[in-house]
Amino acid sequence: MKVTVVGAGHLGATCANVMAYRKIASEIVLLDIEEGVAEGKALDIMQSAPTAGFTSLVIGCTNDYEKTANSDVVVITSGIPRKPGMTREELIGINAGIVKLVATNILKFSPNAILVVVSNPMDTMTYLALKVTGLPKNRVIGMGGALDSSRFRYYLSQATGEPINDIQAMVIGGHGDTTMIPLARLATYNGLPIATFLSEGELQDVVAKTMVGGATLTKLLGTSAWYGPGAAVAFLVDSILNNQKRMIPCSVYLEGEYGASDVCIGVPCIIGKNGVEQILDVQLNEEEKEKFAKSVEAVQNMNQDLSSVL
Ligand code: LAC
Repeated sequence: MKVTVVGAGHLGATCANVMAYRKIASEIVLLDIEEGVAEGKALDIMQSAPTAGFTSLVIGCTNDYEKTANSDVVVITSGIPRKPGMTREELIGINAGIVKLVATNILKFSPNAILVVVSNPMDTMTYLALKVTGLPKNRVIGMGGALDSSRFRYYLSQATGEPINDIQAMVIGGHGDTTMIPLARLATYNGLPIATFLSEGELQDVVAKTMVGGATLTKLLGTSAWYGPGAAVAFLVDSILNNQKRMIPCSVYLEGEYGASDVCIGVPCIIGKNGVEQILDVQLNEEEKEKFAKSVEAVQNMNQDLSSVL
């Protein structure tokens, strides 16, 4: 199985590295516009193969889309990351043009690929990729919910003191500091409601930390994060390539589900070899429904800024 990662920055390279280590794909192509960067990172990853013990082939190239031909999955991380104090939404002007160009180029050489969009603002970039490529909606998936849910589980584990793998929780809605919706009501510690273990105040604190999870890292690092996002992308790609049918919140095109239409936003999906195999209909309570509607509205407002590229 072949995966291309467009953008060999911290996130793209980490994602390639995790996919190689976890033996998710036999061939991984890293592509970047900056001369030599993808080649260098691919070479570095390959030189870890003997000690890490993987057999995936990782190839780097500078803007050479021919090398990406016949990819099964293509991860788009291109564009500029956010700087401290910036919102993901502020990146739209620059990143829209880049994502449009990348998605179009990719499809010329991999007409059957499933696209995984990571570039920010992610929900809007996913919508853009879907519209400019005309691909069926099951083949364009925005990665945000997997990462936000992973951060949510981490903070819940910290607050409860329980092992992270015993904590289950998900984040739906937009991948933005104010638009994401950590579903605290449905979070569990091995099936037991998390509210049994945390006070309302503690739970609200975890929710708040989750929502600014990316911003907290951007402040510390001076640019946006990569280990969490890279691992979350690899997790998503694994479910596609190996047809695992994991339930992962992803940004997908809605046509009436959750009362929303003509928007890509995070909802729980079954992810398998066809990409989005199913959108799960989780019963939200009134408060959650209201938050989701607000989130949809915010993402749709942002999508209007795409008028110059669509
Ligand atoms: C983050 C970026 C990748 O949340 O959106 O870290």
